Amino acid sequence: MADAYFTEQHELIRKLAREFAEKELTKEILDKVEETGEFPEEILDKMAAAGFFGIKIPKEYGGQGADARSYVLVMEEIARVSGVASIYVSTPNSLSGGPLLLAGNEEQKAKYLTPVVTGKKKLAFALTEPGAGSDASGMVTSAVKEGDHYVLNGRKCFITMAPLSDYAVIFAKTDMKKGNKGISAFVVDMKGPGVSCGKPEDKMGIIGCATSDIILENAIVPETDRLGEEGEGFKIAMKTLNTGRLGVAAQSIGIAQGCLDETIKYAKERKQFGQRIADFQAIGFMIANMATKLEAAKQLTYKAAYLLDTKQDTTLNASMAKYFASEVCNEIAACAVQIHGGYGFIKDYKVERMYRDCRVFTIYEGSSQVQQIVISKQLLKK
Ligand code: CAA
Repeated sequence: MADAYFTEQHELIRKLAREFAEKELTKEILDKVEETGEFPEEILDKMAAAGFFGIKIPKEYGGQGADARSYVLVMEEIARVSGVASIYVSTPNSLSGGPLLLAGNEEQKAKYLTPVVTGKKKLAFALTEPGAGSDASGMVTSAVKEGDHYVLNGRKCFITMAPLSDYAVIFAKTDMKKGNKGISAFVVDMKGPGVSCGKPEDKMGIIGCATSDIILENAIVPETDRLGEEGEGFKIAMKTLNTGRLGVAAQSIGIAQGCLDETIKYAKERKQFGQRIADFQAIGFMIANMATKLEAAKQLTYKAAYLLDTKQDTTLNASMAKYFASEVCNEIAACAVQIHGGYGFIKDYKVERMYRDCRVFTIYEGSSQVQQIVISKQLLKK
């Protein structure tokens, strides 16, 4: 059923993304991704050709120029079938593309944004450090100006897509004494001297998109690759995360919907005590709870996207959507596994992967507790 936040055009985009996900992201392919840890390049090419990597990036930079609601719908439909595939959609549209859109000059956008949006290059977003996760402004990576370039030293960790990326947006301190106001943003060439990746992490979920540390040892970055002014990096990161968090909310409602769909199907097929398990009130009530919480999460997510599209401040609503949707997604995935019983614990059943994939949603791009900080700060400052 059409939702109040969407037009017919939005519904067409949803249909396109759903058809793509169901046709291209088959169980055979996704099982192979889990087995090999690699996502097929030919599917990424098809996703790029469908315009998913630049759904909300302006047309002049190679994107589709659609709005945040379209982005949410694409993310939701892709994540409904594959969490990892949705990461490839979110990165160029939000975390990596975001700093360039917010602070890049025309030359930087042409050089870095367009190739990423069209699927020719990959770009990672590197904020977190071993000692600075939730406390992002506690980072110690340094960027020291020497003539027309900066020398970067430090270590970033848990960086999604780092081993696969051509470039990374790296946040580093140009002034160690100024706290968050001493942070600046740079585009760093991942093949450049002094830049290397740690060993890919052996993760619980989101397998098929490698995550690793990025190590900077006297890495030389031209001044022309600084995004915005010195000291603007923290604000660039936070504003980027506002959209990023909307993407995680969309991933959450996508996986939650996938879990609900699988559970309804299974509950109607599975028979115990001489009847379909769907006909037991205990199961029916669990399904009712899953669907109700999912609907509430969808409304928060769609509203945050609508606020972004209508140029309103989304800091509060994006955090609320990310917080609620990611928590609810984990609850729904746990119920889905529970209703599937022993089969839910076995890799042949999709809910097993979904349960693992969504675990990180309450952690990355700001944990649930960080969202609570953001939400309470927004409410209390008024
Ligand atoms: N939007 C816009 N501005 C924001 C903002 C937001 N969401 N959050 C903070 N700011 C601004 C504040 O308004 C403030 O501005 P002024 O100085 O002009 O007043 C400034 O930034 C500093 O804000 P705070 O004093 O609140 O900063 P803080 O140091 O106390 O930190 C925090 C606040 C919310 C905890 C922040 O550090 C944070 O969001 N931490 C989580 C970081 C995070 O999400 N990391 C995820 C990394 S990416 C990832 O996970 C992807 C991956 O690859 C795995």
